[in-house]
Amino acid sequence: MMLVLGIESTCDETGCSVVRDGREILSNVIASQIDLHTVYGGVVPELACRRHIDVLIPVLDQALREAQVSLEEIDLVAVAYGPGLIGALWIGLEAAKALSFVRNIPLIGINHIEAHLYAAWMAAEEPPPLPAIGAVLSGGHTSLVLMEDVGSYRLIGQTVDDAVGEAFDKAAKLLHLPYPGGPFIEKHARSGNPKAFPFKAGQVKGKPFHFSFSGLKTALLYAIQKCSAPVPVDDLAASFQEAAFRDILSKIKLAAHEHRTKTVLIGGGVAQNQQLRKLLAQEAPDLQIFWAPPVLCGDNAAMIAGLAFPQYLKRGADSFALAPSTRIPFRV
Ligand code: KG4
Ligand code: ZN
Repeated sequence: MMLVLGIESTCDETGCSVVRDGREILSNVIASQIDLHTVYGGVVPELACRRHIDVLIPVLDQALREAQVSLEEIDLVAVAYGPGLIGALWIGLEAAKALSFVRNIPLIGINHIEAHLYAAWMAAEEPPPLPAIGAVLSGGHTSLVLMEDVGSYRLIGQTVDDAVGEAFDKAAKLLHLPYPGGPFIEKHARSGNPKAFPFKAGQVKGKPFHFSFSGLKTALLYAIQKCSAPVPVDDLAASFQEAAFRDILSKIKLAAHEHRTKTVLIGGGVAQNQQLRKLLAQEAPDLQIFWAPPVLCGDNAAMIAGLAFPQYLKRGADSFALAPSTRIPFRV
């Protein structure tokens, strides 16, 4: 039995969580900073760092309290060491090192993107059949991987410009919707016509699994400029969302076909979108899709503490030399 304390501070959420044996979530506390950044229409790194410092200890206390465990009972400290904002990463990392040092327990650094995928894995009732196609659809990343095992991946595609969530946030800005824009695009899209505007996501020459969303965003901008007032926000949101999701759908289907698998794991903030879930269920009924549950889609520490368990069994602890990394590939 292993109790893992996870810490997440890569961007604008401060999270602490206690997870038993990689699956059983005893607590998952998330302090969102949306209130802080929303007036600027995006994350302000310096403000994010200050907030992480302010709330990390209270969040940690709450996570232990809700899990009804004391610090003395924790066996392993796990921290997201990247990718993310450098200052924000340092705060989680130094806190984790301090805990590891004073309690004399091992420390392990966890890849935040890999953890988004593990969120889908840890929620599955039975271990999903492997190999699987993994899709991480978040504000910072759009990655398609072939997952051979937990901890063993081959990157098969990624975005060459905006991440899908980032594209949603920028599209929302163009439509004068609040930040972060993904949920607002989804909400407006519900009453819009997805065929109103013939948008299409970009294709990357010779790289069928890569993504490109910046052209889609520009197409939206031109469409807005051409519209006479009032701008049909619902139709534009629906058409934008449809184009982005059809592109993701087709690449997931193609990847599953090429790698002869029917298993797909999907995580990341954008995976909360109900329309995306509906589209995949309708258009890819032969695929067995394992979705991260909504509470584990956005940034959280349960996915960090969860993934730490198999990673620790596989490769052991990290030293105090562990440094944040703003860019790391999937660990293979
Ligand atoms: O995974 P996440 O919390 O943070 C990163 O690691 O990036 O993802 C945040 C992203 C934001 O871009 C947000 O707009 C998007 O996920 N998002 C959504 C929805 N909910 C959150 N995008 C589309 N539809 C949603 N319902
Ligand atoms: Zn994330």
